[in-house]
Amino acid sequence: MARRKLIYEGKAKILYEGPEPGTFVQYFKDDATAFNAEKKDVIEGKGVLNNRLSEYFMVGLASIGVPTHFLKRLNMREQLIRQCEIIPLEVIVRNRAAGSICKRLGLEEGATLPRPIIEFCYKDDSLGDPLVAEEHIIAFGWASQQDLDDMVALALRVNDFMSGLMHGVGITLVDFKIEIGRVWDNEFQRLVVADEISPDSCRLWDQKTGQKLDKDVFRRDLGNLADAYTEVARRLGVLPANV
Ligand code: C5P
Repeated sequence: MARRKLIYEGKAKILYEGPEPGTFVQYFKDDATAFNAEKKDVIEGKGVLNNRLSEYFMVGLASIGVPTHFLKRLNMREQLIRQCEIIPLEVIVRNRAAGSICKRLGLEEGATLPRPIIEFCYKDDSLGDPLVAEEHIIAFGWASQQDLDDMVALALRVNDFMSGLMHGVGITLVDFKIEIGRVWDNEFQRLVVADEISPDSCRLWDQKTGQKLDKDVFRRDLGNLADAYTEVARRLGVLPANV
């Protein structure tokens, strides 16, 4: 097979040049990392599960009119995506308190928040992706005020869609992170949901038992990560066995 041009290798995925201009191939690795890559392991099958789950979420979002970078799944580990310019911000939406907001604000894990809270972190591994305010985003030119308003609207639509989907299968969407990219149609810029949406980037708790079905299983050594992700896929009816 012809070697493809490597564009970028990240912690959990690799981007290759795509078959047509304006496309990339996104490859999902089995590598799991946490705490800014201080903790690392290889979880057999994780890449296959995240490829399939991310496809499922992105296709669902497109079906309700939320634009994404996803074009089609190519095989067990790869999907064809639209090339976009990633805005250097992680957009986090929280419905319940967990993770860093508990440490930062002294909240109890699981506490219901008064409304969905959106946070922005500046994407920079060497700085540990610090939380930033809108003031920084505008002042440093990472996004315009219009982009910010559009990002908030996009993030809330993703939250509504993902929360409903998860609720339907007995799972609480505690929080999640998305990345957003810019694409140009002629001279018009549009924002699209990019990167991936998977149990690597969400907190998912079983509604009855509180069992964690997301990357916290790996972060906090709570059991087998692939089993947790398989449970999410099974409930949604997207087991990799179906591919
Ligand atoms: O760690 P924190 O509580 O801020 O994470 C909030 C949400 O964003 C979690 O679902 C976590 O998995 C996700 N996240 C991520 N990638 C990061 C940071 C957070 O997917 N670099």
